[in-house]
Amino acid sequence: MAEDALAMLQQKDLQHVWHPLTQHQAYREGARPLVITGGQGAFVYTADGQAFLDAAAGLWCVNVGYGRQELADAGAKQLRELAYYPLTHSHPRAIELAERLASYLPRTPHIYFSNSGSEANEVAFKAVRQYWKQQGKPGKIKILSRFRGYHGTTMGALAATGQPGRRQGYEPLTPGFIQVAQPYCYRCPFHLEYPSCHMQCADDFERRIEIEGADTVAAIIIEPVTAGGGVIVPPVGYLKRVEEIARQYDVKLIIDEVVTGFGRLGAMFATSFFDIHPDIVTMAKGLASGYMPISATAFSDELFEGFLGGPDSQRHLRHVNTFGGHPVAAAVALANIDVIESENLVERSQTSGQKLLKGLQDALMDQPNVGDIRGMGLLVGIELVKDRLTKEPVPNAVMRSIAKAALAQGVIIGKASDVEHERNNMLMFAPPLVMTDADISQLINVVWGSVVEVMEREVAKA
Ligand SMILES: Cc1ncc(COP(=O)(O)O)c(C=O)c1O
Repeated sequence: MAEDALAMLQQKDLQHVWHPLTQHQAYREGARPLVITGGQGAFVYTADGQAFLDAAAGLWCVNVGYGRQELADAGAKQLRELAYYPLTHSHPRAIELAERLASYLPRTPHIYFSNSGSEANEVAFKAVRQYWKQQGKPGKIKILSRFRGYHGTTMGALAATGQPGRRQGYEPLTPGFIQVAQPYCYRCPFHLEYPSCHMQCADDFERRIEIEGADTVAAIIIEPVTAGGGVIVPPVGYLKRVEEIARQYDVKLIIDEVVTGFGRLGAMFATSFFDIHPDIVTMAKGLASGYMPISATAFSDELFEGFLGGPDSQRHLRHVNTFGGHPVAAAVALANIDVIESENLVERSQTSGQKLLKGLQDALMDQPNVGDIRGMGLLVGIELVKDRLTKEPVPNAVMRSIAKAALAQGVIIGKASDVEHERNNMLMFAPPLVMTDADISQLINVVWGSVVEVMEREVAKA
């Protein structure tokens, strides 16, 4: 694209596009968003011909990588065949996709389709509340989640989100949501160490249920590995313990696999990897690798059957959305899952993830500002601190500078934003699962260079 055409496009962008998580004052002062016009594999291309390694896979969703002809063809074919029909009746692609998802999650074989991760979680919250009312337990309405957990941006999903930075300014949120501790071993909220801690973090759910009264608690929602809240991988046994607590107190367990599903952690779904059996599983990002918006909420037989009744019983799920299970999105999701299967991207996520984690640890662990490097599969994070002993977080401004330095070297990396005030000190990597060994080396070199460059500059300033 010619320079003046790009400048014109950017000018119109500044006038009309309101970007998420963005301080537009910076644009008024000369900063410009990248204008992405194409992509291939783990790379995206800008309107002015630059290539960037996208170590964030868009927003952690382009699992099969960019430029997949088979997904485009599946979408185009479906557009010609049946462009739209809602699931108030049915259509073949939604049926095939639901069956496919149920094959991975046999204990939650009833699939409700929506358009985003937030909506998939809203469906879960509404369904469990209605379920308990229909079970004759109308008091069971509270949803327990965790500090630093992220479940979405709509009012209910945000109420389940334990990130004060995200919630600030939007209260009052939906009532009935309560947060408990994270299994955040690097900064244990109980100042204990695993395993002698006996996982007080898991027991925090039990404590909270006892305090509130089990007859007031509808469900627990957790991410199997906390993603945007800081790549927090739970200790061995944690998820099983939470499941046990949920069962003991007759509380439904919702596992949010919006990020972790479809290979991100080196398993198709984390629930099967960790051998837990939730009542509800939600999923979105990798379901169609971002090629189309689609999400799903998978329910157990028990929950689903709690909605059966006569035509005037009002027991049916009274949640509807116009586009959920859109035929084109479902067709693209099916093609996407075919690619994940046929190219063994789940295994690749595991092996590439190990290379990335070890490579970052070898390159960076001796840096004085690197507190922790952790991850699972191709979800990896680096926690930066001012001082390794005090673990005081590196300020937001420094995190921005590091991301900017990486961008200047051709790599898009993620970083925590708006989690907690001045506690957003995580660099995060969730690249396409097709990332090559050369891409991994490039990412490690650029991250190392960016961290060293910015931290040396900070030391010189001090
Ligand atoms: C774990 C988790 N749940 C839910 C969501 C919300 O998904 P969406 O942005 O599609 O609404 C996200 C988004 O990043 C997420 O990371």
